[in-house]
Amino acid sequence: TAEPLVMGIESSCDETGVGIVRGTRLLTNTVSSSMAEHARFGGVIPEIASRAHLEAFVPAVREALDAAGVTLADLDAIAVTSGPGLAGALMVGVAAAKALALAVDKPLYAVNHLVAHVGVGLLDTDGTLPEHLGALLVSGGHTEVLAVGDITGDVRLLGATIDDAAGEAYDKVARLLGLAYPGGPAIDRAAKDGDPGAFRFPRGLTAGKYMGSAEHPGTHRYDMSFSGLKTAVARVVEAFEAAGTPVPVADVAASFQESVVDVVSRKTVLACTEHGITTLLMGGGVAANSRLRELVTARCAEHGIRVVVPPLSLCTDNGAMVAALGARLVSSGVAPTGLSFTANPGLPV
Ligand code: KG4
Ligand code: ZN
Repeated sequence: TAEPLVMGIESSCDETGVGIVRGTRLLTNTVSSSMAEHARFGGVIPEIASRAHLEAFVPAVREALDAAGVTLADLDAIAVTSGPGLAGALMVGVAAAKALALAVDKPLYAVNHLVAHVGVGLLDTDGTLPEHLGALLVSGGHTEVLAVGDITGDVRLLGATIDDAAGEAYDKVARLLGLAYPGGPAIDRAAKDGDPGAFRFPRGLTAGKYMGSAEHPGTHRYDMSFSGLKTAVARVVEAFEAAGTPVPVADVAASFQESVVDVVSRKTVLACTEHGITTLLMGGGVAANSRLRELVTARCAEHGIRVVVPPLSLCTDNGAMVAALGARLVSSGVAPTGLSFTANPGLPV
């Protein structure tokens, strides 16, 4: 089928996403988030996320079908995220997708969440992804640099965080600073009034021995780390509190943010230049960060790398990206996964 009609289902974290595409054309992208329910805990609570998926799923499917003006019987296939992500959350989406596929007898494709983020790049194109494509995924749950040879099979992980995800670091530091959850937007705002050079926070895994050289690559050459940064911020905050002086929130936020975007952009550029990547697709909620986009774009430009940032609704977790990848799998003649796979929280790319 040249232009398969595909429904994509996403439930790996706190977004219940149901998207429908026809080939590379986006028909609808329905997303329901349980983020507000996690706010008072300062992070996603898996049990709450799973229950929210269970409640949101049927209404989301109905809404998506209505918005696209299609029925389940019209679909050529269904695609669902099988991992990586939160086990219980993934299971709700996988069980729901299997039930739908069984009920209307449609082929079912299990897709990798990280690869699906790259699937966004297929939307509203003729279906050809740029050559020498890479992806930078930065969210509350993941932080990876990928090399995309072929989206239907050859996607390689070049580097990733070895501890906290970038968004997770934002959320934790926001909590230390008494800012609201989710912390990313709050820190982004606070940082605008702060001095990014006020505090020199550590840049995880950027010491010479980690960066190495092309001939003598260090370990973790393209990997990132944010837990030391978080600890350093905590020490500074504690010192102000112990001294009874107000914490300079804007300066701490700006300095913290500068460390994150410095690490992410340096590691990304290193990985891209050494793997011949000339187009970089950004994805994940942290792609909303203006300073990150600015620095990644500027540093990539120095090496002739073009940076593509999709609209935010397609950067954050959604069903359309799953549907887009599913449609590509169908049109490439890839066999459906069938109904006997399971959710895999640690699914590698
Ligand atoms: O992709 P996403 O919506 O959900 C997953 O984590 O899967 O990403 C949410 C993350 C949160 O950690 C949030 O704090 C962060 O993205 N975020 C930001 C910004 N907007 C959202 N981080 C930095 N700057 C922002 N403007
Ligand atoms: Zn994601």
